[in-house]
Parts: sequence; structure tokens; C-alpha cells
Amino acid sequence: MSEPSPLLDVYPRLDIELASAHGCWLRTSDGREILDLYGGHAVTPLGHGHPELTRTLAEGHATLDFFSNSLHMPVQQRAAQRLLGGSDHLRHVHFVNSGTEANEAALHLARRLSGRERVLSFDCAFHGRTLAALGATALSGYSQRLSVPRVADAYGTLRFGALEDVERIDDSVACVLCESVPSLAGVLMPPDGYYPALEARCREAGALLVFDEVQGGIGRLGRWFAHELFGVKPDMVTLAKSIAGGYPAGALLVSGELGARVKHGELGTTFGGGPLACAMIETVARVIDEQGLLARVEAIFAGLREHVGSIDGVTLSGAGCLVGLRTPLPAAQLRARLLEHQVLVGTSAEPQTARLLPPYVLEDAHIARFAEALRHVLGH
Ligand SMILES: Cc1ncc(COP(=O)(O)O)c(C=O)c1O
Repeated sequence: MSEPSPLLDVYPRLDIELASAHGCWLRTSDGREILDLYGGHAVTPLGHGHPELTRTLAEGHATLDFFSNSLHMPVQQRAAQRLLGGSDHLRHVHFVNSGTEANEAALHLARRLSGRERVLSFDCAFHGRTLAALGATALSGYSQRLSVPRVADAYGTLRFGALEDVERIDDSVACVLCESVPSLAGVLMPPDGYYPALEARCREAGALLVFDEVQGGIGRLGRWFAHELFGVKPDMVTLAKSIAGGYPAGALLVSGELGARVKHGELGTTFGGGPLACAMIETVARVIDEQGLLARVEAIFAGLREHVGSIDGVTLSGAGCLVGLRTPLPAAQLRARLLEHQVLVGTSAEPQTARLLPPYVLEDAHIARFAEALRHVLGH
């Protein structure tokens, strides 16, 4: 009888043992090379093992491994400037360690600065697993499985994309937390004009607009910020996943107006803004910029539309490198069959929709290889 695993058994894992990863490829312990269209769950914009990130980590560690936020560190300033990306309304960055922590920070500030308690989010959104973020996670299934805090009237939902619901944003609402492109729900795009209408209603009601760009931010949709794609200016934006190329990091970005009202001690974390995380953030943003990867992200989506979206029975949703893939096969079955062809895709909470969250450096040859595997699996 084998020993029980020392790991708490909370993750249903695929039967793959990873040995290493390079670029867009995963190498398994039994020597297989698998094309990674899941990007470590939307985490590896530059691909695996990018030499600039390897160097950044080694040099960063040798130069300044860690200190807390009680001293000044120029690398924090440089990383923050990079993340702000020249925004004309977001002015300040608070570094944290993960997406859920960034959302906790945003919800705290929204409630404290507005003096209101109620938070609205989308009925299909995922925002993380810590208490405030979980309270705003209305995607079906989570409140049954996890201990969602049930504070009367503290949370409410809007049906994603339903203009009628926007009217429900009133002067009891601290903020509307928007998952920019609901991903786990199956990669859903808003109807034209939806976000501007929601933003206008927030302004009328005095509610803050918060964009969760943990997946959609820093280039994944072909714009630096997801909200740019939709023509709105949120008061706060949360980021994580891709920002440090696989090193754990998250960030809360706030407008100048809100930033001026934040007090010492209001937010804080030991590891958030650590010099290694900031050095990695700086490098990821610089490489995206220098290599013109936002344009590459758009080209990847165009390539997928041409070579994958044209296959009979296949439809694509999303934008850039955040893509929903619907086929006649259930997504879990599709993923298993694609793995037989050495291609890894993700699933979603929508049983028929798989997800592609590839690195921004995916090449045309990779797309062609994927299209060929998909044709085989679908019997075309
Ligand atoms: C949109 C969104 N928000 C928040 C989170 C939570 O991020 P983390 O797992 O880093 O806490 C996720 C994670 O999948 C996410 O997709």
C-alpha cells in the first residue's frame, strides 16, 4: 500500500508529473513534451523559463533578497511605474501577493472610503477564496463548497451583461466589482456599451467602479489594461497571475483621488512588494513592451480564429490570450483527448467550454499544431 500523500488533497490533479518547462512546452517525468495552452493558469506571459526572468531572479537575489515595506526600495517605484502603464487616471500601486488579496484590499478601501457596505458583483464572477473576495464570488457552486460569509445585505449580484440590472446600483452600494472578462464562467465578453453604461450608473450613484483584471490585465486581452478594451476608467484595478511571470505577486492600483484619501496602516503585508517580486514585475512589463507582445497577443487571437475557429463545430470567445473554446465534446473529455496529442488546455465551470490561456509568445507553428490535434480529436 502506498504512503498517504503529505499534501492535503484539495486539488483534483491531472495524471501528469512535470519535470521541467521551457517556452510554451512542458516536459513530463516520462519524457513527453506537451504544448502548454493553459499557461500555468494564465500565469506565464513570457513562456516558461524566460532567460530575462531567470537572470532577474538570480541577480535580484544576490543584490537584495528581501526587506519589508518599512524602508524605501527603488525597485518598488520602478515596478509600480511599469504597472501603471502610463494610465491617465490610475496613479498609485499597493503590492500584495495574490489575486484574492488584491481584491480584499480593494473591497476594504471601497467600503471605508465610501462609508457604505454593499458590494455588487456579477452572478458569474470568480474573485478568490479569502472572505471578502469569496463573498463577491457568485459563480454557482462556490458558496455551497466554501464558507462564504453571509452578512445580511453586504453583497448582491448583477446578471453579467444585463443592462436592466445596472439600474439596481444605488446609493447603498460601496462599489461594483467587475471581473473584466468572466473567465471561469466560460470566457464571456460583455455586450457593446455594457461597461460604459455600468460606469455611468456608478458615477450617478456615487458607487466606486473596481475592475478585477487578475486574469484580463497586463496585456492578456491585447491592451495593457482590460478596461481599456471597454472604454471605461475604473477607480481601482486588481492584478495578479501574469504580473511577475510565475513569481507570486499581486497589486491594487488606485486613482489619484482615492490614493490621496488612504491613511498609513490601512493596508499592509509582509511579503507584498518584496524586492524580488518587484524586480520580476519590472522585467515582465519591460519585455512585453520591448518585444511588442501586445500586438503579438492580438495576432495569436487572429491566428486562433483563422485556424481553430474555422473547424466545424468549434466556436471561440474572448480576446487575445484569454479564450473560450466550445466544441461538440464536453470540455473535460476534450482536454483528455487533446492530452493524447500532447496539448494541454484548461476547462471552465461551463461544462462545454474549454479555456486557452497561453503565453503571449505562442508561435504560429504552435497554433497550427493545436489545430491539427483538435481536428484529429473531433474526427475531421
Ligand atoms: C478573476 C480572478 N480574480 C481573482 C482570482 C484569485 O487569484 P489568486 O488565486 O491569486 O488568489 C482569480 C484566480 O483564478 C481570478 O481568475
